[in-house]
Amino acid sequence: MLVSAKEMLNKAKAGKYAVGQFNINNLEWTKAVLLTAQENASPVILGVSEGAGKYMGGYKTIVGMVNGMLEELNITVPVALHLDHGSYEGAKKCIEAGFSSIMFDGSHYPIEENIEKTKELVAICNQKGLSLEAEVGSIGGEEDGVIGAGEVADPNECKMIADLGVTMLAAGIGNIHGKYPANWTGLNFDVLAKIQELTGTMPLVLHGGTGIPEDMIKKAISLGVSKINVNTECQLAFAAATRKYIEEGKDLQGKGFDPRKLLAPGFEAIKATVKEKMELFGSVNKA
Ligand code: 13P
Repeated sequence: MLVSAKEMLNKAKAGKYAVGQFNINNLEWTKAVLLTAQENASPVILGVSEGAGKYMGGYKTIVGMVNGMLEELNITVPVALHLDHGSYEGAKKCIEAGFSSIMFDGSHYPIEENIEKTKELVAICNQKGLSLEAEVGSIGGEEDGVIGAGEVADPNECKMIADLGVTMLAAGIGNIHGKYPANWTGLNFDVLAKIQELTGTMPLVLHGGTGIPEDMIKKAISLGVSKINVNTECQLAFAAATRKYIEEGKDLQGKGFDPRKLLAPGFEAIKATVKEKMELFGSVNKA
C-alpha cells in the first residue's frame, strides 16, 4: 500500500540520512526503482512530473500500475507516489487519482500567492493523510543565457511556508535540474544552514540530485536535507546502456529486438544507479 512520505522523511531527518525520490517514466522505470528499494530495504519516493504523468497515460494509469506492482512484486518497503513540481490544478488531479504525496511548486508566484495556495493544499492533504512538499526560491543570477547559481531561497520565506504545516520543504540553494554547467559554483551551504536553523525539524528537499558531488550531498544531509530528487542520472544511465546494446548489434541477433531484451540493459542500469544513490544517501536498511 502506498504511504505518505511524512513518516519516512521525519525518520530520515532524525537519523541524518536522506530518502531518494526517483522520477519514473514508464513501466520499466517503476519496476526498477521498486525492486531496488525492496532489495536494499530502503524507503523510496516515486516522482511523477506532470509531463511524465501525461506521457504514461494519466495519473490514474500510474496509480493503477504502481499499486499493482506493490502487490504482485511483494514490495513491503515504504513507498510514496509523489507529484513532482505540481501546479495547483495538477495537485488536485493527483489527490483525486490516489497519489500519496504531492508537491505544489508555487515558487514562481509572488510569496503571498504561494502562501495562499499552499495553505489551501495543506488543508486538503492533511484531511486525506497525504504529504505535501512546498517550494521556495527564486531563479538566481543569469548571465549570457547561462544560469550561474540556480535558485537561492530567502530563509525567512522558507520559514513562512514551513509554518503553514507542509510536510517537507524544497528550497533552492544553487541546485538546478539536469547536468550542472562547468562553471557551477556549488551548493550554498550558508543559506541551507540558515534555512535549517529557522525551520527546525522540517525535512528539507534537495532537487537536481544529478551531478552533485558526493561530499556536497553528504554535507547537505548533515544540514537537514532528508529527501533528494534524482531524475536525469537514471535517464543518462538508461540511454547509455540502450545505446551500447544497439551499437553492439544485439538487437539484430536472434530475438534481440524483443522489447523485453532490448530494454533489459537500460533497466539494469537504472537499478544500479538507484542502488548507488540509496547507498550514498544512507537509506539502505532504513525501511
Ligand atoms: P535531476 O534531473 O537534476 O536529477 O533533478 C531531479 C529533480 O529535482 C526532480 O524534481
